[in-house]
Amino acid sequence: MAAKTRWCCAVRWRVPDVADRYAILQELGLTPVWRRRLAAAPVAVPSSTEVAAAMPTLNDATVAVAQARETPAPDRVARIAALQWADFNADVAACTACDLYKARNRTVPGVGDVRAEWMFVGEAPGADEDAKGEPFVGQAGRLLDNMLAALGMRRDKNVYIANVLKCRPPNNRTPTPQESDACRHYLDRQIALIRPKLIVALGRSAATTLLGGDATIASLRGRVHRYRDVPLIVTYHPAYLLRTLPDKAKAWEDLCLARATMRALPVDDGLQSAATTPT
Ligand code: URA
Repeated sequence: MAAKTRWCCAVRWRVPDVADRYAILQELGLTPVWRRRLAAAPVAVPSSTEVAAAMPTLNDATVAVAQARETPAPDRVARIAALQWADFNADVAACTACDLYKARNRTVPGVGDVRAEWMFVGEAPGADEDAKGEPFVGQAGRLLDNMLAALGMRRDKNVYIANVLKCRPPNNRTPTPQESDACRHYLDRQIALIRPKLIVALGRSAATTLLGGDATIASLRGRVHRYRDVPLIVTYHPAYLLRTLPDKAKAWEDLCLARATMRALPVDDGLQSAATTPT
């Protein structure tokens, strides 16, 4: 009797090992679990030389030049629509179009391959992103990296990641329509410069900004939408998935739809890349 009690306690309190954890998740219907693949090349490398060259590091001089150029709408809209990569980051860094500039530490324009076929769009920078100036570097970013790895991709290769907002909203609150309206011109310009073959909208802010309307994620999932002429797939935001594990399986379905959509697209003849070579 005493031995049986000890055995029960041992089972009850033993820290589950990895196999146990997977079995538990499977039992709960929470698999597949995303894991980084063992890749031949190292994963999670910062920006490529090409991106670095196309997006020069900001210094006070470039910010000052862009600040001097800051003009009110509609000139602002026209100016952003004509931006090239060489001026893009400086222009974002100088932006004062909404109040978010007052509390930001860094602007967060975007990261990745400026000739990417895939583009992922999130909502807005959080604290980690505001500190580093790069999108999706916190916990949600690690999940996004795992999602990319599950598709055999990584953030600096054939993928570009951006947000609707380039500045952090206080306490990570949802962007207001005014903030999204003011900032979306930068996102529109990024998409025009990159000309991705496919966009994945991560969460409702990205989906409704790019598609218009006010639909829910649940109603937008599972079909191919269009942003201008670019196919667009809607899925859950990684931060939501961290809080709602069962929906990871649905997000995986969305990524499979995105991959199938990409594979069904006509093969690029190279003309598009040549036309968008950054200056
Ligand atoms: N959430 C987002 O939408 N974007 C980030 O960059 C980080 C968290």
